[in-house]
Amino acid sequence: MKEKSDIGLIGLAVMGENLALNMERNGFQVSVYNRPHKTGENPTDRLMKERGKGKNFLPFIDIPAFVASLERPRKIMLMIRAGSPVDDVIGQLTPHLETGDVIIDGGNSNYNDSERRYEELKAQGILFVGAGVSGGEEGALNGPSLMPGGNPEAWPLIKPVFEKIAAKASDGAPCCEWVGSGGAGHFVKMVHNGIEYGDMQLISEAYELMRVSLDMDNERMSAVFAEWNRGKLDSYLIEITAEILKHKTAEGDYLVDKILDTAGQKGTGKWSVISSMEFGAVLSLIASAVYERSLSYLKELRVQTAGLFPHAVTAEPVTDKKLKDIHDSLYASKLISYTQGFRLMMSASIEKGWNLDLAAIARIWRGGCIIRSVFLNRIAEAYERNPQLEHLLLDEYFRREIEEVLPAWANTVSEALLKGISLPAFSTALNYFYSLRSADLPSNLLQAQRDYFGAHTFERVDRPRGQFFHENWTGEGGETKSGTYTV
Ligand code: 6PG
Repeated sequence: MKEKSDIGLIGLAVMGENLALNMERNGFQVSVYNRPHKTGENPTDRLMKERGKGKNFLPFIDIPAFVASLERPRKIMLMIRAGSPVDDVIGQLTPHLETGDVIIDGGNSNYNDSERRYEELKAQGILFVGAGVSGGEEGALNGPSLMPGGNPEAWPLIKPVFEKIAAKASDGAPCCEWVGSGGAGHFVKMVHNGIEYGDMQLISEAYELMRVSLDMDNERMSAVFAEWNRGKLDSYLIEITAEILKHKTAEGDYLVDKILDTAGQKGTGKWSVISSMEFGAVLSLIASAVYERSLSYLKELRVQTAGLFPHAVTAEPVTDKKLKDIHDSLYASKLISYTQGFRLMMSASIEKGWNLDLAAIARIWRGGCIIRSVFLNRIAEAYERNPQLEHLLLDEYFRREIEEVLPAWANTVSEALLKGISLPAFSTALNYFYSLRSADLPSNLLQAQRDYFGAHTFERVDRPRGQFFHENWTGEGGETKSGTYTV
């Protein structure tokens, strides 16, 4: 045991404990601290008695001794609940830290908080890192995907630990990269989670189509997802869906059928949508996924409404063609969701000056994290072919992919809607695509309405862009125009 530890970790709940074990397994000596619990065993004692027994940990129950046990410059990772607890712990740490020490927040913090903490700590000479950590309990233990951002001076100091503990992609590359300054790390993690919301909603809609429209049983659906997991949709979420569908209780029932259809949410999906509004980016698929969780929560209202508007779906025979159409619709909608998520990161990067490397972000999401998939290789390749790529559908590979599946996608969505099956994410994706490929949208009429009632002005198709006109529509209005700004 060395006199000083390589790194300190605060917060020994599920994620923190597993991350500490991961660091130790990879050869680092870790000092651990958890605030003493009022009742029950202190998590630090529990770790030392159980999973940490005989391992390279130094346990502490007071902050000054914990800080003093660390090799300088000190590196302290917080794995605690996002929000005010992070500020509280930072406040307890800073009196004991020195210039050049590093605080890493590995929770699901709001990126705006990370921007503020980065500035506040910079003023005190402390290097702040907001690190996205994805992969759940298993990832934390065996290799998460890591998205550190914040003070760039901290990166060389934490890089050896981060690259060692991160998951490795199929080509052996660590799923960890310095993302950018300020709150960039937590912003990228937030978008990761937003995309996770989208993927989960899309998979649930594919399940709904198979369950209701094709009347398939759980075993058969499980087999279909398992097969999809060997193709273009190969991903962690498809893999666990196949497992979940065939999982039985001790009584022999399928557990999925016993789970109430109300989904929870902890906020990162909502933050993604709020950010998209702030940066003027379209994130309609993820928004539909967030709203669907909110709607799912209104169980009693849905039951009441179902009684008022009864409808029954007549199931069709299962055919390979039908299953392929659902697969292709899921694939196309997923592509739209990722396109929107990556464009949100592009907009934020420009506005914040983060210089996000979108190919690198796609690469670090290939392993360890919840949205890990083969598909992310294709996205990384598209941004490697053209780092300035404005939109994934402008990439030749993805253009051809969409062209190929478009008829199946349109048929699946329209047939399901006619039958009364709700497909918010599939249909939002298709609508987005239709709007995107419309050289002419009906927004000319909308602009006319704005000008009619509020003198908001309009541009003309027969004049250069940037010239704004106002019409006296009724002959009664004046010539005064409103401002032309767009928020
Ligand atoms: C991850 C997950 C993780 C967590 C989310 C789920 O990347 O490991 O995204 O961060 O599971 O908190 O969020 P909801 O509770 O909002 O579904």
